[in-house]
Amino acid sequence: MYNNWADLENACLQCQKCGLCSGRHNVVFGVGNRRSKVMFVGEGPGENEDLRGEPFVGRGGQLLDKFLTAVDLDRRSNIYIANIVKCRPPQNRDPLPEEQESCINWLRNQFALIRPKIVVCLGRVAAMRLMKPDIKITKEHGKFIDKKGTLMMATLHPAALLRNPGQKPAAFEDFLKLREKIDELGCDIAKQE
Ligand code: URA
Repeated sequence: MYNNWADLENACLQCQKCGLCSGRHNVVFGVGNRRSKVMFVGEGPGENEDLRGEPFVGRGGQLLDKFLTAVDLDRRSNIYIANIVKCRPPQNRDPLPEEQESCINWLRNQFALIRPKIVVCLGRVAAMRLMKPDIKITKEHGKFIDKKGTLMMATLHPAALLRNPGQKPAAFEDFLKLREKIDELGCDIAKQE
């Protein structure tokens, strides 16, 4: 465990713990306000993210940003976004269990430094890994569960919403619930500064 961001990021950027390192252009470490109390976690970088070194910058990311803006959240001010794996799986396949295992300590260290009050899992892979292995995201999205004092919620993955636009209203409800919960807990740092 690293107790400061500079050392953590520096070590992560040099990681070679699994085979994904061989195909990467960039390690996608994470983005956002490191003092925020709300964290979003996706599954892993896609092509655009690998090229830019930032999570959720493709079409899915643009949709995510729209939803965030609508509830006064912003990756540059009051949230932090990371992924389960920091390097792009080839052909955008799901990260393998052993790749997740090799990478998860980076995320654990990010959690340890941020100490989020709320974690939103973007999609099935993150929800299965962080919430429960048998989660049925189509049924259980939008529901908060308390895990050792951190509230966790899964929502549908932005890429899934691009494939099934009919699910967008249901996903947007999750963001409204998230906003309510943030206000209830008083944990929006943009409103505290
Ligand atoms: N999908 C993810 O899960 N994470 C990203 O960063 C981009 C797409």
